[in-house]
Amino acid sequence: MASNYVAAFQLVLFCICMVVANSVEFSHPAVFNFGDSNSDTGELVAGLGIQLSPPNGQDYFKTPSGRFCNGRLILDFLMDAMDLPFLNPYLNSVGLPNFHQGCNFAAAGSTILPATASSISPFGFGVEVNQFLLFRAQVLKLLAGKKFDEYIPAEDYFQKGLYIFDIGQNDLAGAFYSKSLDQILSSIPTILLEFETGIQRLYDHGARNFWIHNTGPLGCLGQNVAKFGTNQSNLDELGCVSSHNQAAKTFNQQLQAFCSKLQGQYLDVNVTYVDVYTIKLDLIANYSKHGFEQPIMACCGYGGPPLNYDSRVSCGVTKVLNGTTITAKGCKDSSVYVNWDGIHYTEAANQYVASQILTGNYSNTHLSEKMPFLL
Ligand SMILES: *[C@@H]1O[C@H](CO)[C@@H](O)[C@H](O)[C@H]1NC(C)=O
Ligand SMILES: *[C@@H]1O[C@H](CO)[C@@H](O)[C@H](O)[C@H]1NC(C)=O
Ligand SMILES: *[C@@H]1O[C@H](CO)[C@@H](O)[C@H](O)[C@H]1NC(C)=O
Ligand SMILES: *[C@@H]1O[C@H](CO)[C@@H](O)[C@H](O)[C@H]1NC(C)=O
Ligand SMILES: *[C@@H]1O[C@H](CO)[C@@H](O)[C@H](O)[C@H]1NC(C)=O
Repeated sequence: MASNYVAAFQLVLFCICMVVANSVEFSHPAVFNFGDSNSDTGELVAGLGIQLSPPNGQDYFKTPSGRFCNGRLILDFLMDAMDLPFLNPYLNSVGLPNFHQGCNFAAAGSTILPATASSISPFGFGVEVNQFLLFRAQVLKLLAGKKFDEYIPAEDYFQKGLYIFDIGQNDLAGAFYSKSLDQILSSIPTILLEFETGIQRLYDHGARNFWIHNTGPLGCLGQNVAKFGTNQSNLDELGCVSSHNQAAKTFNQQLQAFCSKLQGQYLDVNVTYVDVYTIKLDLIANYSKHGFEQPIMACCGYGGPPLNYDSRVSCGVTKVLNGTTITAKGCKDSSVYVNWDGIHYTEAANQYVASQILTGNYSNTHLSEKMPFLL
């Protein structure tokens, strides 16, 4: 597989619309990933000492892989495109985890803001960055001994590596349980300040290539539709909760502004902002054109149409409710469902999203090289 590819980029800046032919150097010796369940390859289950139930993992790994999915995540497809192996979670302690070409610090449920007593994941973004800094320090110590070189990154991988981020969805989704839309919108700068603090710490320790995904249309997730969409007037024409998507769009505007600022601030960084929101919303709106049959209903769940989602039983779990034993089962053909379990996307959807990311049509990349006046 080619590790370089050529793509066209559309860059809209200061209302000047220019089409810039670009050639992406998508060739990095290692990847360090930070985020939530959208890119967790087994971190939360390792950290909490829990297991997911089948049918999670069934369509690719044949067994639960620690991913909240029936198969591969967007990150897995991006790793494939870079000719790199799937990333091991930082907390994997057995199975001879190999971190030579990177490490994954993303944990399901993680937020940018620090975790609280009621958080699903105890690892907020700041903790993920702490984990990376400890990882890096330990690697640099081990490299001196030369014994583990094939299991750990080389020293220059920390500078040449790609730092990928997909986090923020849980800060927004979680806030709706206790806050109004206006309160959430006004909290976004505080959330992004915490993000900036983490990015700055990574930069200070040599990170130079930043690949930042924006957050998806979380109002279209069954979990949010079930809880906040019972009143039809809260739903948009796609059946998604309007306020949640509004929060995501506002978050993304400010995240993009931060990315431009970061790019402008340093001569020696590459910042790529990836508009995952637009890809996912297009997939949900135009699902049949993209080969899907169900845009919102979960493949694995309980309750049947229209959502097949019940917050009391997660995918693969069997429970007794009112004296009746029920199981959240998988659907027959996950490849026609966009949504896996009411919260996460199916492998088929992840593959579609990754393929769109890889066109380059949804990112502003290497602004410093194309736009020297930004510096
Ligand atoms: C940024 O990317 C370009 C190629 O796209 C590469 O030549 C350059 O070394 C990168 N800069 C850093 C700091 O890694
Ligand atoms: C539904 O929401 C609308 C607008 O927010 C409100 O006016 C209406 O009272 C709500 N209906 C119910 C049944 O709660
Ligand atoms: C759906 O597809 C049409 C036609 O390509 C496009 O104009 C529209 O923006 C898409 N909808 C969304 C929500 O992306
Ligand atoms: C359980 O039974 C009670 C009383 O019959 C009923 O109100 C409730 O909706 C039932 N819950 C479920 C999950 O069926
Ligand atoms: C990128 O977007 C342009 C304009 O919408 C479209 O013509 C082109 O086919 C897209 N490229 C890819 C690789 O999808």
